[in-house]
Amino acid sequence: MENKLVTAHIGLRFGMAHLEGALNGGADVAAICDCSEENLRFAGERYGVPEEKRFTDYMDIVRNGRIQAVTVAVPDQLHAGITCALLRAGKHVLCEKPLALTREDVREIIRASDESGKLCMVGQICRFTPAFEKAKSLIDSGVIGEVYYAESEYAHDYMKIVDNWRADPKRHGVIGGGCHAVDLLRWLVGDPIEVFAYGTHKLLPQVPYDDATVAVLKFGGGVIGKVFVSTGCKRDYTMRTLVYGTKGTLICDNTSPSMTLFTAGEDGMAHEPQIIPVELNSHNAAREFEVFAAAVKGERPLETDAREGAKTVEACLSIIESSVTGKIVHPNYDF
Ligand SMILES: NC(=O)c1ccc[n+]([C@@H]2O[C@H](COP(=O)([O-])OP(=O)(O)OC[C@H]3O[C@@H](n4cnc5c(N)ncnc54)[C@H](O)[C@@H]3O)[C@@H](O)[C@H]2O)c1
Repeated sequence: MENKLVTAHIGLRFGMAHLEGALNGGADVAAICDCSEENLRFAGERYGVPEEKRFTDYMDIVRNGRIQAVTVAVPDQLHAGITCALLRAGKHVLCEKPLALTREDVREIIRASDESGKLCMVGQICRFTPAFEKAKSLIDSGVIGEVYYAESEYAHDYMKIVDNWRADPKRHGVIGGGCHAVDLLRWLVGDPIEVFAYGTHKLLPQVPYDDATVAVLKFGGGVIGKVFVSTGCKRDYTMRTLVYGTKGTLICDNTSPSMTLFTAGEDGMAHEPQIIPVELNSHNAAREFEVFAAAVKGERPLETDAREGAKTVEACLSIIESSVTGKIVHPNYDF
């Protein structure tokens, strides 16, 4: 009896990381797909996928009854259409972040997942970044006490990668890349229930949206926070994240080999900071695929399902809306 997961992989630029994760994880890769013949050939040759398993039309994956699970890493605007077609054809899907760019599209994906009974995981990869996994376990262990403030930034210079689908007005930086920081705060602290944001536009004339946005956030239980997104910044990629608790403070990043933990003694005075080494792996797609495969096989629950992806989209759209209208926005997580 065949017990290897039979997979396919659509979109083969960032999506090659999923393909690699599947191959390393022992999946039976039945098909790869990219509408660009050049990208398809490149990925096929790089990973030794034979020509008869290479397709330029994703409908060949949709129609293939043997395929059980599919990863989708195409431009964000195409996530909903392709993901829904796969779910409705009975495939489990790992869809890249952001799950979609509109509330209508995330609702459609949730509906397709619910009606088909198939899993839809969203690739919020920061939940598998070693430093952030460590931060989550430290916070949950109570070592920094009760969290009262958290902030995260997504600073990534898009100057060289923005000249395509990323310049779509619907693909605002806060949802495109900033969804990483927003999702991370949701995971570490909870859902922001009130947001207020400012934006500015000084670095990327080729995009029709602000290239820097700052949002102040109110969470439940008296927790406050901040998200900063800059897609034109002149610095290395970083997602520097700070979490302040009543007994300590955490400072971490996806691009630093260590994180810093401050804890206070019984007298409330700060201790020396502990420097905790962490593995550097800002795009841990192998672990992400492993979790997806385990959930598909029923070995673990799926945490980042379509509803979870939708909530991150909702928080991002609320921040964008506030930065445009100048008004406080209350996200509606009723998905
Ligand atoms: N998790 C992360 O950190 C991370 C990093 C980069 C990109 N992403 C996400 O991954 C997705 C892809 O990003 P990218 O950087 O690889 O983009 P890209 O534009 O470099 O590559 C997209 C690929 O999809 C292919 N494609 C486009 N339309 C297609 C279709 N209809 N059928 C089949 N293939 C199609 C293109 O030919 C191209 O090879 C996006 O959703 C992006 O937001 C996530």
